Amino acid sequence: MYNTLLTQTENGTCIITINRPDKMNALNKDVIEELGAALDEVYNNSEIKSVIITGAGEKAFVAGADISEFLTLDAAGGAELATRGRVLVFDKIENCPKPVIAAVNGFALGGGCELAMACHFRVASANAKFGQPEVNLGLIPGYGGTQRLTRLIGQGKAMELLMTADMIGADEAKALGLVNHVVPMEELLTKAKEILQKIHTKAPLAITKIIACVNEAADGNHHSFDHEIVRFGECFMTEDMKEGTSGFLEKRKPVFKGK
Ligand code: COA
Repeated sequence: MYNTLLTQTENGTCIITINRPDKMNALNKDVIEELGAALDEVYNNSEIKSVIITGAGEKAFVAGADISEFLTLDAAGGAELATRGRVLVFDKIENCPKPVIAAVNGFALGGGCELAMACHFRVASANAKFGQPEVNLGLIPGYGGTQRLTRLIGQGKAMELLMTADMIGADEAKALGLVNHVVPMEELLTKAKEILQKIHTKAPLAITKIIACVNEAADGNHHSFDHEIVRFGECFMTEDMKEGTSGFLEKRKPVFKGK
């Protein structure tokens, strides 16, 4: 169905694998377009309850935007490339009403690190490496890297990584809060699936509201506390809230319907 992606849905989790292993799964125009389409499917298909984004092979998650597309660009072309990526892919991942996890299976550099950071959270294989090497090319990140890295690991560490182009390993990424779990490569997808299966047992409308509230907090939205209160109130109007609270009081497991 796609030229640059593999997609497969099992137990409600859609696994999107970026599949250009000979080019370290670099994000060229085709990958961006196809990721956009795959994410539209995630939004529209009610059988998909969550997403894992990963890379093909055991070497790279994504080694960045495709550098071979850069040489001919001018200021407008560069901004256009970044904007298309943002609209088609990065904003859709961040604002996805269903949980999206990055399963980082190797190099996550430049646009690859940015792609992982746009996901709601990250798990990594022990060989994963993270970095923003754009300054090596006379560039800066354009898919939100300066913003999301600062939010995730703080200003000082973000400044250092962005200015030095240093790569860090999975354990350091975990210590910094960039990834939540580090597991052996062969357990990477299993770990991500396990976390998502747990989330699937919770009330889906509440999960969607969690994503929106936490994103607003990370954005520094001045009304985020007010919006949390509004969304909290909205939960009381759902069937799932009645099911969840009655289940607790009746000492039984709730069965949520997403209503
Ligand atoms: N864009 C386009 N092509 C890329 C790429 C990228 N971001 N990253 C890797 N590739 C290509 C290489 O050009 C090479 O293609 P070729 O076989 O046709 O020559 C192929 O992928 C394999 O990469 P190679 O560099 O030979 O592998 P390696 O194991 O020696 O090194 C990396 C792996 C990831 C360290 C190295 O490829 C690299 O530094 N990539 C660029 C990272 C980067 O700067 N990203 C930010 C972009 S803004």
